[in-house]
Amino acid sequence: MLIIQNFAVFEGGDGSGTTTQIVLLKERYARLREAQAGPAAGPGIPPLHLTYEPTAGPIGVMIRSALRGELSLRPETCARLFAADRNEHLYGAGGVAERCARGELVVSDRYVLSSLVYQGLDCGEELPWSLNRGFPGPELLFFFDLDPEIAMERIRSRPGRDLYERLDFQIRVRERYRALLPEFERAGVRVLCIDASQSAEESAALVWAALEKMPIMKG
Ligand code: TYD
Repeated sequence: MLIIQNFAVFEGGDGSGTTTQIVLLKERYARLREAQAGPAAGPGIPPLHLTYEPTAGPIGVMIRSALRGELSLRPETCARLFAADRNEHLYGAGGVAERCARGELVVSDRYVLSSLVYQGLDCGEELPWSLNRGFPGPELLFFFDLDPEIAMERIRSRPGRDLYERLDFQIRVRERYRALLPEFERAGVRVLCIDASQSAEESAALVWAALEKMPIMKG
């Protein structure tokens, strides 16, 4: 598998805290960049671009309305939309590939593995594999592992409920992640499993320790 250097992704079941980790990373990065600013500062840490899938682009918007149940789409149609959204996310203007190539650190909330897991459960493994096998892998993949019962408890307080936010489905999601992670590792992706039952700050510290070791962070 081709690997995009300077690219890290967060993966996990719904309610596992990937979005919280993106926020904490953003805050930590802002503090660091501030501390490094000033006329005497050296090159410092690279620019950070935080992003997510489904994206805020037109295809991502359509996907989210399907996830909310406002738009009824066949699972295979959704699988194709997720892949099309990803293609724009990766290769569109100002996208992941372009940013990583110019020396930014890019961190995405979800990527290919989400499709292999979720759409794999929804419409069988073959279609998501064929739609996604051409995409390059990230340099680093964080998997936030959490008991689905606890994850569903965390989700309960949120307004509305998405298509996949059901305990029985989330139990299978966790199983599929665990089964597929070794394949990504074998394909050359560095995989880090984070026990997401610990506090968000503890998880964030582990995330940071791994990001810090990426070659891009050493200038
Ligand atoms: P996410 O944005 O993480 O959820 P939230 O809106 O609660 O922050 O992801 C939205 C949903 O999309 C989530 O249930 C996982 C699903 N998903 C897929 O099924 N396939 C994919 O390829 C991606 C990127 C997400």
